[in-house]
Amino acid sequence: MEFKRSIVITGGAGFIGSHVVRLFVNKYPEYKIINLDKLTYAGNLANLKDIESAPNYRFVKMDICDFEAFYQLMQDEHIDGIIHLAAESHVDRSIKDPFTFARTNVMGTLSLLQAAKLYWESLPERYEGKRFYHISTDEVYGALELTHPEGKANDFSAHEVYGDDFFVETTKYNPHSPYSASKASSDHFVRAFHDTYGMPTVVTNCSNNYGPYQFPEKLIPLFINNIRHRKPLPVYGKGENVRDWLYVEDHARAIDLIFHEGKVAETYNIGGFNEWKNIDIIKVVINTVDRLLGRKEGEDMDLITYVTDRAGHDLRYAIDSRKLKAELGWEPCLQFEEGIEKTVKWYLENQEWMDNITSGEYEKYYEEMYADR
Ligand code: NAD
Ligand code: TYD
Repeated sequence: MEFKRSIVITGGAGFIGSHVVRLFVNKYPEYKIINLDKLTYAGNLANLKDIESAPNYRFVKMDICDFEAFYQLMQDEHIDGIIHLAAESHVDRSIKDPFTFARTNVMGTLSLLQAAKLYWESLPERYEGKRFYHISTDEVYGALELTHPEGKANDFSAHEVYGDDFFVETTKYNPHSPYSASKASSDHFVRAFHDTYGMPTVVTNCSNNYGPYQFPEKLIPLFINNIRHRKPLPVYGKGENVRDWLYVEDHARAIDLIFHEGKVAETYNIGGFNEWKNIDIIKVVINTVDRLLGRKEGEDMDLITYVTDRAGHDLRYAIDSRKLKAELGWEPCLQFEEGIEKTVKWYLENQEWMDNITSGEYEKYYEEMYADR
């Protein structure tokens, strides 16, 4: 079958990538969607069981650092679009092992860019109809102060109440963790490929995602699983750090829109004005898990265990996504209450998925991770 487009999605077996792959495979049968993933500890093909035999889907196990292999794939599949999500993504791991983050996030991104450049520049039409879309994070902007007293602003008019205390697209980069430093560096390379070679790039910086298929090292799935098994909930510091939470399918919809309609060389911030102090969101998660398991709401609050803070722990992230709303009409579809209910239900109903991930190496990793806390 002739496909209208041939698109590589890197990191498609991970949390956000699997939602993006699913959306594209189902919505665009006329596109060939190639999921390129190394299948690290965070990659899991079980995340894509429902679409794995779709005629427009192909999985390729590959390391994004393998320049030769990726250049060959570009030629074999006539790739005209790249949506790049593959990365090492967990701040705590980056503190223990920064080299892996520089290798994958910086060198891996550069390798994709260089292979895409060589292939696209070899074609008669060169960059026409091509796109390199790099998925980044709000963490590259650094940290904000806790300026609103209740630590929470949650609608698109928040700036009218709280002023300009949000990350905008022009906020100066100021990364603090090895993770955010590696993502910042990769963002710079992507922009450099536009400015130097004219590659049609676009970059988005999104806030914290939550939803099904997230690896249980991140706050929400880790805590849902621990509450279920009545294990301690390790809250870093005083639990006062603020994160801005977006349901993963809303992020995937934004990626679809920006891949097709975003302006070349632009940056768009993606977020739903949904800030929560960690301790407050943890209480919502405890109440929801308890209720859905038929326990008394709040009976597991005593699992909360304050532990040594994360080194260099960014105090607050908050995205201003008014540009994306004004220029492309994107807004989140899901209210947080609905999103968290759906998410908790999904993890409770998919215990087998969780058990498969949390067996073996996982236990060992967590013993080491928390040994010094
Ligand atoms: P994840 O850790 O769940 O998935 C990462 C995927 O990349 C995995 O499937 C893994 O196997 C793959 N991968 C890792 N190294 C690779 C390599 N060298 N070659 C090929 N594949 C490799 O991550 P996620 O949470 O889905 O994040 C995806 C992207 O979105 C990342 O770039 C991350 O920086 C960005 N992001 C994440 C969030 C969030 O809240 N999770 C927020 C904003 C931006
Ligand atoms: P995380 O899900 O790791 O995302 P990020 O660090 O990219 O924001 O953590 C979200 C917040 O929750 C962050 O402030 C750290 C905190 N946290 C804990 O308090 N305990 C935990 O066990 C984890 C994983 C995170």
